[in-house]
Amino acid sequence: MRFLTAGESHGQKLVGIIEGLPSGMKISKESVDEALRQRQRGPGRGGRMAIEQDEVQLISGVRGGLSTGAPVALEILNRDWENWASIMAWGDEADLESRKVMTPRPGHADLTGALKYRTEVRNILERASARETAMRVAIGSIVRQGLSALGVEIRGHVRAVGGVHAEYKDEADYWRRVKQSEWSVGDPVAEQKMGERLLAAREQGESLGGLLEVQVLKVPAGLGSHVQWDRKLDGKLAQAVLSVQAMKGVSFGLGFEAGERMGSLVHDPIHYHQGQGFRRGSNHAGGIEGGMSNGEPIVLQAVMKPIPTLYQPLDTVHLETKEVVKASVERSDVCAVPAALVVLEHVVAWVIAEAVLEKFPADSFKELQTAWEAYQAYLIL
Ligand SMILES: Cc1cc2nc3c(=O)[nH]c(=O)nc-3n(C[C@H](O)[C@H](O)[C@H](O)COP(=O)(O)O)c2cc1C
Repeated sequence: MRFLTAGESHGQKLVGIIEGLPSGMKISKESVDEALRQRQRGPGRGGRMAIEQDEVQLISGVRGGLSTGAPVALEILNRDWENWASIMAWGDEADLESRKVMTPRPGHADLTGALKYRTEVRNILERASARETAMRVAIGSIVRQGLSALGVEIRGHVRAVGGVHAEYKDEADYWRRVKQSEWSVGDPVAEQKMGERLLAAREQGESLGGLLEVQVLKVPAGLGSHVQWDRKLDGKLAQAVLSVQAMKGVSFGLGFEAGERMGSLVHDPIHYHQGQGFRRGSNHAGGIEGGMSNGEPIVLQAVMKPIPTLYQPLDTVHLETKEVVKASVERSDVCAVPAALVVLEHVVAWVIAEAVLEKFPADSFKELQTAWEAYQAYLIL
């Protein structure tokens, strides 16, 4: 299974193609649209999100609510394009001057992209923008629906924003609050403080990042493989997570704290439970050992740096004159941690779905389900 996306932030639309999806898998457009809505929400977003009301168009590969096995093509229109049609036009009529950017923003692809591709910055920032993640959410949402039909559950929460940490309790009430929280945190005290931190950051022309956590529940042991570096599940998940704009680090389970502890306080004892198979007494590994899922929940954390576009911009250098000037300001979020969480959940869904199909190659969903169920039964023998 693979996918490709295309589209600029202020272009006409985002497009994507998924190939290799088994036939007969239920696909709901409403579920994709709901995921897109989730990506757009959250405190700290900029004016752009007020303009866009993302909705997917399923162009091919789905009939009567079921995948056909043919490539699935998707589109998401950029409403803002109406304001950019002459600037983004592909032909000679394009207005290449009025929104030309010659003052690269620190923290963005702007400077290196302009040097590498020998262009002004607009051609770089249009594609480097996290607008692209709308399509990755749509694609992830399609495979997430298949995972959900197999019983796999993906959930996430925000652990910290701008240095304010939520107190995480792995209990139903916490997760219920996460769902209702605009920050995607289950700790109301932290939520309040995050709001205050955001207000202060906005007033100061500053921006905020944070810590995010994604969990994958009910995955069987044996996704991924120890035999080759590029088949390791933790490696694949890390790559997918770090490919999301502004993600600067990823860890699993105990994460970096593992380096601080003695081995006996890190590794998870193995137990056997009749009717359940092999289980662990703890899950410090975050559900992955030797590049394979071990049957415990997969738990990964990621760190998101503060949004690089600053309303009180840092110094930069004009590409032509080499004068020191202030960096340009494109309309921007002040904090996008809750939105990024939605993106992470969906890129994780993609990697897990890929790993499922690597373990259980199938042309139809029925074939996949049969192999999946037989394997689950084998695991608890
Ligand atoms: C959901 C989401 C929304 C983002 N929104 C903005 C934004 O409004 N303004 C901005 O400057 N950066 C934003 N970013 C981050 C930049 O796209 C990113 O930092 C930049 O492309 C450089 O890539 P890098 O941080 O991965 O090195 C956002 C990232 C995500 C995941």
